[in-house]
Amino acid sequence: MRRTITAGNWKMNMDHVEGVSLAKDIVAGLEGRDPACEVVLIPPFTTLPAVVEAVDGSRIETGAQDLWYEEKGAFTGEISAGMILGLGCRYVLVGHSERRHVIGEGADILAKKLRAALSGDLFPIYCVGETLDERENGMATTVVTEQIRQILEGLSGDEMGRTVIAYEPVWAIGTGKTATPDDAGTMHAVIRSVLAEIFGAPVAGETPILYGGSVKPGNAAELLAMEDIDGALVGGASLDAKSFLGIVFPA
Ligand code: 13P
Repeated sequence: MRRTITAGNWKMNMDHVEGVSLAKDIVAGLEGRDPACEVVLIPPFTTLPAVVEAVDGSRIETGAQDLWYEEKGAFTGEISAGMILGLGCRYVLVGHSERRHVIGEGADILAKKLRAALSGDLFPIYCVGETLDERENGMATTVVTEQIRQILEGLSGDEMGRTVIAYEPVWAIGTGKTATPDDAGTMHAVIRSVLAEIFGAPVAGETPILYGGSVKPGNAAELLAMEDIDGALVGGASLDAKSFLGIVFPA
């Protein structure tokens, strides 16, 4: 059975004081309950150590929002895979649309980051997704297929086995617009078929593919009911314990 994951990407929100309080509320909300999914919190770097400590002893996993691809050295402002793993984090986002479109990271850098995450024993969550323009021009499938092939081709089956995909249509991020379950489910099936072409059906069948883009307690259940949607990468709604828990336990 494939793993399912609900991950909260806090983006540039929650300083270390606010972050600990939110993490503790989520830990408390999970107490005595048994979620069907793995729960992952992805705070900003400066909040991360405090959150790792706050969730210690609970079932919650943590992750970082980004990494640099070198192990150490003169890379002012950057953080390595080893530093993230050293904190006790298992996950790291690679290719989030805000890094692609706001910060301008391209395929070359993302490929290096993904490989650095894997060789640093982290589980990368590799994000893909089309812009509104690309969707309206009928390019969504082509763009997402290219984002998958460009970065993931060349990985070993074992490396792909440690990689999680997140499909986040750019037009649905932070906009309140969500892909319909059918549209999201169709894209997830496309992604799985591309993975099957590259890595074979068994690896593709085991890869968790998360959906992200305005996921909320009110729409989580219908999205997560789709066969190829294996969890959610949540932005805004992960900043409040009650709404995040409403996605971890969709009604
Ligand atoms: P929102 O849930 O705020 O749309 O953000 C989604 C996202 O970008 C998660 O990585």
